[in-house]
Amino acid sequence: MATAASRPGLPRSGAEIREAFLDFYEQRGHRRMASASLIPEDPTVLLTIAGMLPFKPVFLGQQPRPAARATSSQKCIRTNDIENVGRTARHHTFFEMLGNFSFGDYFKQQAIQWAWELSTEVFGLSPKNLVVSVFREDEEAETIWRDVVGVNPKRIIRMDEADNFWASGPTGPCGPCSEIYYDFRPEHGDDGIDLEDDSRFIEFYNLVFMQYNRDAEGTLTPLAARNIDTGMGLERMAQILQQVPNNYETDLIYPLIETAAALAGVDYRQLDEKGRTSLKVIGDHSRAITQLICDGVAASNLGRGYILRRLLRRVVRHGRLLGIDKPFLTAMGEAAIALMETAYPQLIERREVILAELQREEARFLETLERGEKLLAEVLSSKPKQITGEQAFELYDTYGFPLELTEEIAEEHGLTVDLAGFEAAMEEQRQRAKAAAVSIDLTLQGAIEQMAAELEATSFKGYEQLEHPSCVLALVVNGEPAERASAGDSVQLVLDSTPFYGEGGGQVGDRGVLSGEGSSGEGVIVAIDGVSRNRSVFVHSGRIERGSLAVGDLVNAQVDRACRRRAQANHTATHLLQAALKQVVDPGIGQAGSLVDFDRLRFDFHCPRAVTPAELERIEALINGWIAEAHTLEVQDMAIETAKAAGAVAMFGEKYADVVRVVDVPGVSMELCGGTHVANTAEIGLFKIVSESGVAAGIRRIEAVAGPAVLAYLNERDAVVKQLGERFKAQPGEIVDRVSALQEELKATGKSLASAREELALAKAAALTARAEAVGDFQLLVARLDRVDGAGLQSAAQGLADQLGDGAAVVLGGLPDPTDLGKVILVAAFGKDVIAAGQKAGPFIGGVAKACGGGGGGRPNLAQAGGRDGAALDQALRSARDSLLAQLQR
Ligand code: ALA
Repeated sequence: MATAASRPGLPRSGAEIREAFLDFYEQRGHRRMASASLIPEDPTVLLTIAGMLPFKPVFLGQQPRPAARATSSQKCIRTNDIENVGRTARHHTFFEMLGNFSFGDYFKQQAIQWAWELSTEVFGLSPKNLVVSVFREDEEAETIWRDVVGVNPKRIIRMDEADNFWASGPTGPCGPCSEIYYDFRPEHGDDGIDLEDDSRFIEFYNLVFMQYNRDAEGTLTPLAARNIDTGMGLERMAQILQQVPNNYETDLIYPLIETAAALAGVDYRQLDEKGRTSLKVIGDHSRAITQLICDGVAASNLGRGYILRRLLRRVVRHGRLLGIDKPFLTAMGEAAIALMETAYPQLIERREVILAELQREEARFLETLERGEKLLAEVLSSKPKQITGEQAFELYDTYGFPLELTEEIAEEHGLTVDLAGFEAAMEEQRQRAKAAAVSIDLTLQGAIEQMAAELEATSFKGYEQLEHPSCVLALVVNGEPAERASAGDSVQLVLDSTPFYGEGGGQVGDRGVLSGEGSSGEGVIVAIDGVSRNRSVFVHSGRIERGSLAVGDLVNAQVDRACRRRAQANHTATHLLQAALKQVVDPGIGQAGSLVDFDRLRFDFHCPRAVTPAELERIEALINGWIAEAHTLEVQDMAIETAKAAGAVAMFGEKYADVVRVVDVPGVSMELCGGTHVANTAEIGLFKIVSESGVAAGIRRIEAVAGPAVLAYLNERDAVVKQLGERFKAQPGEIVDRVSALQEELKATGKSLASAREELALAKAAALTARAEAVGDFQLLVARLDRVDGAGLQSAAQGLADQLGDGAAVVLGGLPDPTDLGKVILVAAFGKDVIAAGQKAGPFIGGVAKACGGGGGGRPNLAQAGGRDGAALDQALRSARDSLLAQLQR
């Protein structure tokens, strides 16, 4: 292999490469941006697949640019090539994309010149090792490479649209691109270069000249500005500079391979191709699953959750292929966190959550595997000729058992799986799912999305005003876009501006009414019972109560003041709660989620233990103190950096704009928040914690009430206390003592009842001694005894056995409640000689119980069992007698 840069001082490690790239562009006027979350804001994409994704609205002119030039190292996940991971040298799920972006600033020539300078001077790649590709029709790019940069024309390759026209999806910003390739074998010369030959070439830098928007019909319209979007695969550059045979052996992944190899007790270098592939898959996927959970994805059967589950299960599967038979994902998670935490410090904050999710999901999958293996064993025990497609599909679909595992196990038994049958069953299932999907409210969702996509952001007036004149911009009636709606219709509608808060940041949307002259001039009233946001468009849901309404009508939009006041009290109280938790429990406590409703609030936070009752009391007292101190809130917009520097609390994982709204309760709490709040804490009135509980590993939840809701909560409790007081004839302060006394009394009564029952059982049993049959030296007594509970029946049997002596074999059975045939109790008590003759009470009574649909057992001398089929009891007792008789006569 021709050597790449190995001059001292050149970047080599992944961290050095990342830094060198960002630094290069920072020095050239680019703003360094932190990686956005793997969960994109763009609702049309599941995961962040490229560095440009967070900037998509900027390219489209829908959002102001953060700067004229930007540079970032973006976490990305692509799963379209998942089967290739570990098999080729360079396929990943998780990877880091280094990028430089121009938003209407510099364009093609500057981008090309800098890319070349960076590659050759900063990364020290020799021009002899480089090849560039250009879009077939892009003369301009070719000229720049050849005449301005001076690349050998033979090493400039024209490619068609499939390769050199880049788009982030079927619609959206796109443009021709030009890529730089590294040539591992320059000695093969400049003629007949085939960039598809990936044993020789690797593409490492893609420059996209982003100048069009593509619509759903495929039509390209020039964007308002010409932009640059580039992407350099960090792992690929690391492979080149570290001179290793593939991306997995770079310092960005190899430590994970070593961790997995150690857990499996194998040596990567000694393994065959298959074993190495498994290690590479584990190395690659461990990074992906750790980062996905870090960004808030939880395993599930849908969307991102499914991607996480699938990747995680592949890690477990490949671990098993390598011989790891114990849970090992937390070990992989720990190694992945250690590897990436310097570049992505959120991993440290989210460590507990990540490890807990890995552990839980792995345990769940191991259970699945176990269940599936059992089921498959049953199928195999019937000695089939082949595993049918339906069987394999049932395992897969119902038990989550992977097909390749079914195939593998079948193969061990010399069998095959009917794969065509499996596919057919899968297709059938797909069709079923498709049919079902349409019947979900897709039409409504689609109509709303369509409505919102065509409209500009709603102007929200509700911070200052609760009433506002607004114009109806769009209507959806009974799930269909419409021009007009009339009394009785369910509607979704968008206004140009609105005082209604749209659900977001945990706070519920406002309720209220719209009123106006309506389209016919005779008056219209619309009751609004919820407001949601679709991107930045507020969608009001409600019902036309009177008259009719058309697009273009003017209405007076009026928020229900009482509801809003309640939501505000709860919202400000939530901020106070977070501040109090930090003071009382741990300054590092971070929010995991929240809900601010009209009549309650809920706050979820990261905390490894329960908050103690004493702490809860202090928290409540602190908050009520702040309320009484009547702090006036200060709300203002400021630059994010200023807000963070001032110590404003941001929610982790949330993406904020450059200018943020800061809600400050001076001296108490300062949070970034878009919600609505009281003007002064005194408006809250009172705060009361309702409960504290755990919702997931490492996450606690406090539910509370504030403002007017406290009274409702207290009234409800008060009513219960009053009822109890009346029932117990006690003052509220005496109720607890009264209940304790009653509990004591009940316990004592229970005890005497039990001994009375036992006495009764013994009395009944005494009458049975006469029925004992002598069998040689043994005394056999099998009898039915109803209306006696388990303990009573045991003492009766034991009593009888004592009376009948060492040769006693006593079996009693009965229904404790003869009206309930579902509960049978059986007891056996055997004397010493019976045991010496080889009979044991435990197994014997277990056998009898089986005949009554149950089971049980115990010691050789005394054992109890239960059954569920009372109708079979007499027959079971007869058989028990016959069998004992036969055994003892021998
Ligand atoms: N957005 C371009 C890519 O992902 C740079 O390749």
